[in-house]
Parts: sequence; structure tokens; C-alpha cells
Amino acid sequence: MKQNESVGKTNLQRRQFLTKAALATACTPLAALLPAGAAQAKARSTVAESCTPAVNLPFFGTYQGGIATPMQRHSYFVAFDLLTEKRADVITLLQSWTEAAAQMTQVPAQFDSHADRDQVQQESGVAVDLPASRLTVTIGFGPTLFEKNGQDRYGLAKQRPVALVDLPHFVGDQLDPQRTGGDLGVQVCADDIQVVEYAIRRMAELVAGVGEMRWAQSGFAGGFKARDTPRNLQGFKDGTMNIDPQNAGDMKKFVWVGDEGPDWLHNGSYMVIRPIRIALEHWDQMKTSFQESTFGRQKATGAPLGGHREHDALNFDAQDKNGAPLLPENAHAAMAAAANNEGAQILRRSYSYDNGIARIAERWPPWHQAMMFDAGLLFQCYQRDPRTGFIKLFERMSKFDMLNQFATHVGSGLFACPSGVKQGEFIGQRLFG
Ligand code: HEM
Repeated sequence: MKQNESVGKTNLQRRQFLTKAALATACTPLAALLPAGAAQAKARSTVAESCTPAVNLPFFGTYQGGIATPMQRHSYFVAFDLLTEKRADVITLLQSWTEAAAQMTQVPAQFDSHADRDQVQQESGVAVDLPASRLTVTIGFGPTLFEKNGQDRYGLAKQRPVALVDLPHFVGDQLDPQRTGGDLGVQVCADDIQVVEYAIRRMAELVAGVGEMRWAQSGFAGGFKARDTPRNLQGFKDGTMNIDPQNAGDMKKFVWVGDEGPDWLHNGSYMVIRPIRIALEHWDQMKTSFQESTFGRQKATGAPLGGHREHDALNFDAQDKNGAPLLPENAHAAMAAAANNEGAQILRRSYSYDNGIARIAERWPPWHQAMMFDAGLLFQCYQRDPRTGFIKLFERMSKFDMLNQFATHVGSGLFACPSGVKQGEFIGQRLFG
């Protein structure tokens, strides 16, 4: 198949889809309800308003979905390793993925109830009759797609962007190789968990024969009322200070790759994704005042210590009546603030996760080993350059952040997510062109 041949000649053609008229919008994501400027504080949480999730988000466009999109309630990330030696196989896979994503985001496929019951169904039926629920699919390329074990498998080594670095080892990292890296990464997000399951399975199925799953993590964003910033598993509002995806200037400055990157990555972004285990049992033993010092924010309102309302600016000079600082300099919010990092900013899009329980060794006092919640934050952020984004921030935070007593990075991935595409193109086409 020719490299730039349009999407279409894929094994998806054998599938039968019934198209439905675009579903009625039962509600509108919060960000869309508010004018760009006024949206800021409210939309910063990037979580959609509580609603009937019947919205189709456009698939084709300048940017891939799932980056500037207000966060959906559920997510599923899978990193894949490619086994094939053939460049053409990778192209075919990207074509199939693009086609599947374009279809699923508009309306999940339909189960063919008239099909021969002795045949394997081409459609899982997992999302039959369900609306697309703001489904987005985001595809990224890991450093090992370009070069792996010194091998340039697909003739791409010269095109590896300089910013697609191997992430350095950070203080405290306890990365499991089986939850780290990947040649390709796919993230699906939707407001209906069933749609997420359906979509990620279909994306994974298309890899059969050319690659395999390496690691995965599903996530959820819950506990929010309409227009509120959601709370994380530690009970704190998470997402208060973030880049506003509707602020085109900030997105250009901090999130979308510009002229400095290779052509195929213009209007794309770098995704850093790290499952961070949180010692919840340990956290729950802490006094609220200590928890608040750890984050630098009030638990109930989300206001910064020394402030009154959630969206008040951090006040690094605020003092109590004895002259002691109210906002510790090693509090998480203070450590991460742009003002303390030479203006560095990232677009956070993290989900909570809970994998049930596992035997885990605590790395902070009281040291012990027990069955504990294998849960935490699937930290995810997008940036124009990871060297001036995540790496810049986390190098200092990994050493001094008070939150480190409770948080352990157990996996990691960095993926270059190409721009969005027009109808007839496939994601990453300009890399292979
Ligand atoms: C378990 C891991 C983490 C948890 C539970 C967590 C939670 C939070 C919370 C509750 C806030 C305050 C509310 C807000 O502004 O959204 C916050 C702020 C922030 N976090 Fe994290 N975070 C984690 C890891 C990280 C990491 C690894 C980074 C980046 C290296 C990061 C970057 C930021 C930034 C940039 C802010 C905003 C700071 C500001 O400008 O005020 N976080 N985080």
C-alpha cells in the first residue's frame, strides 16, 4: 500500500456499520457554554458539566481530540510495542486506528443482529445503542518508534524530534519497566465507561499481528458537581490552576508544538503520562492541617493557604500572626507554580485510578508491608516541549515536594502526539510521507 494512500483500505472495511444521525445534544460541555474569556476559572478544571453524555465531538481538525477537550469522566490508556519489522504495517495500523477513531467518536458501531450466529461477530456489541459520549482518541509516538536497541526499524530515526528525549531518572522514581515506555500510546476518554471499554478494545484489536499491549491504566474523574473542580483520591480539588484550553495564546505558547518542531508535529503536543501510586492509608492518618500544608491549599474550598477563594492567586508572602509563612515553600502547589519555575507551565489532564488492592511496601515511616490500595493518580500532562515542561517542573519537585511522602511514580511514558487530520488522512501521515 502506498504510504500516503488515503485511509480506507484497512481491515476495517469488512466491518458493517449502521450510521445514525448525529445524536441530539442532551447537554453541552461546560467550556462550550461559557465565552472564552469568562470561561477561565470555571473551565480550568477542564471537566465537563454533569449531563447526559450524548455529545459527539468532531474527530477531524487541526488538533487531535483529548488534549484541549474538557476532561471526560473516564479514560483508558494503553502503550503498545510493535513486533513487526515492516514500515508498511505501521502505516496500515495508523490508517486503521484513524478510521476506527473517526467512526467511533461519531457513533459507536452497531451489533449486526442478523449475522450468521456461527460466524465470529465483527463488532463486539459492547457499546450497542450507546451515544458516543464525547469519546476522544489520542494517539502518540514513543521514542522507541524511532529507534529501539540501536535499530532504526522503520527508517524514522532521523525524524525523531530533539524534544522527544528519554525522560531522565528522577529522585524517588520506582518505575516498573512493565508500566513504562511503549512504541505507541493510545488514550481514549469518554463520559460513559462502557464506551471507553468498547473503544480501547477495538483499538487494541487492530494491533493484532503487528504488535502487542505493553502496559495500560484506566482512570476516572469523579466526585464533582456541575461546574466544580473535581476532587482527587486525597480529597483535594485537583485542576484549579491549569492552562485554560480555550486560551489560544496560552495553548500556543505552552501546549502546541510550533515551528521549532518537525513539520509532522506542528499543532501536536507531547504527552507525559505517569501512574503515581498514592499511599492512601498513610494519607488518611494525617491531620487535615498537615494535608493542607502538603498541598498548600485548603481542603474544603481549594483556596490557597493565606487566600480565601479557590481561584485566588497563591500568596507566597502570606504569614500567620507569629510571622510564620502560611504557604510552605515546599507545598505541592508552591513547588509547581509557574512563578517558582521561571514561568514553566503544562496542561494537566490527570485521572484518578484504582486497581484494587495489592501487597505493597511503604517507602515512608511507618515502614511496613501489607495489602493496600493500589491506587493513585494517572498523572498526565501535555506540553510544547517536555524539557521546558514536565522535566523542568519535576526535577525540583521530585527532590523537595512535601507530596513525595505519599506519592510514588511507578510508571512513565512520553509520547509525541501528532496534529489532528483532515478527512482522508491518517494520524501521523506526514511523518511517513
Ligand atoms: C500524586 C500526584 C499528584 C497529585 C495528587 C497532585 C495534586 C494536585 C493538587 C491537589 C493541586 C492543587 C490544585 C490545583 O491547582 O489543581 C495541584 C497543583 C499542581 N500540580 Fe499536582 N499533583 C500531583 C502530581 C503532580 C506532578 C507530577 C506535577 C508536575 C510535574 C504536578 C503539577 C502541578 C501543577 C503545575 C499545579 C498547579 C500549581 C499552581 O500553579 O498553583 N502535579 N496538584
